[in-house]
Amino acid sequence: MQILFLGAPGAGKGTQCKKLAAKLKVPHLSSGDMLREAVKQGTKAGVEAKSYMDKGVLVPDAVLIAMFEEFLSKPEMKGGFILDGFPRNESQARALDELLSKLHTKLTDVINLETSDDLLEERITGRRVCPNKECNAVYHIKFQPAKKDAICDLCGTELVHRSDDKPEVVKQRLKTYREQTEPLIRYYGEKGLVKRVNGEGEPEQVFESLLGTLKVACK
Ligand code: AP5
Repeated sequence: MQILFLGAPGAGKGTQCKKLAAKLKVPHLSSGDMLREAVKQGTKAGVEAKSYMDKGVLVPDAVLIAMFEEFLSKPEMKGGFILDGFPRNESQARALDELLSKLHTKLTDVINLETSDDLLEERITGRRVCPNKECNAVYHIKFQPAKKDAICDLCGTELVHRSDDKPEVVKQRLKTYREQTEPLIRYYGEKGLVKRVNGEGEPEQVFESLLGTLKVACK
């Protein structure tokens, strides 16, 4: 399966993609995680990306397209993959179409993870993430707390608060989503690929409805 996730900032894409990737045993390609790692490493792409991310606007298309071209061309992608955060506007979506066609593959499902706006702020401001690139686990101080305060359950790294999770940046991220990414629901809808999943409720409940929608057995 080649699955793309769409959904507002804080909708739970990362949370669900990680569970699904473990279940299907396919790679989870998160544009946000890749960009944050590039920022941490101080690469040319990372230095360029940081100023855009800190403002809550999109990083230039060329940076993302080059990044995904490199990852999607790897042999381990041949068994399927999950895309989270790319594409994020129509020009990226067209670039992805071309790239996948060059690689003789295509998207099988586009999941639109739906949540009401009033849930998003609480989810985002309480989020804590593991900065270890081999882990990138996501927690929430109230909804999904780590067992030991501020320490990742999985790898023991100290959890951090994302620098773009400040209220003023979150507002801009939501605006960017509405203006540039939400139109992709129609773009992929016209190709008959979009499936809606209710992102409200406990993460496990959301995961069950996701598996049901994708017709993947729960056990
Ligand atoms: P990115 O990292 O992709 O951020 P995002 O799309 O804004 O999404 P989030 O990571 O905020 O939310 P999520 O839906 O993954 O939610 P999560 O599972 O963490 O992008 C960051 C920036 O990078 C962009 O602003 C842009 O600048 C740049 N960028 C990235 N891709 C780009 C592209 N293609 N082109 C250009 N620029 C790009 O959950 C949120 C919280 O809620 C967590 O704390 C979690 O524990 C909790 N939670 C999750 N599910 C539930 C639930 N069911 N119940 C209760 N709590 C829950």
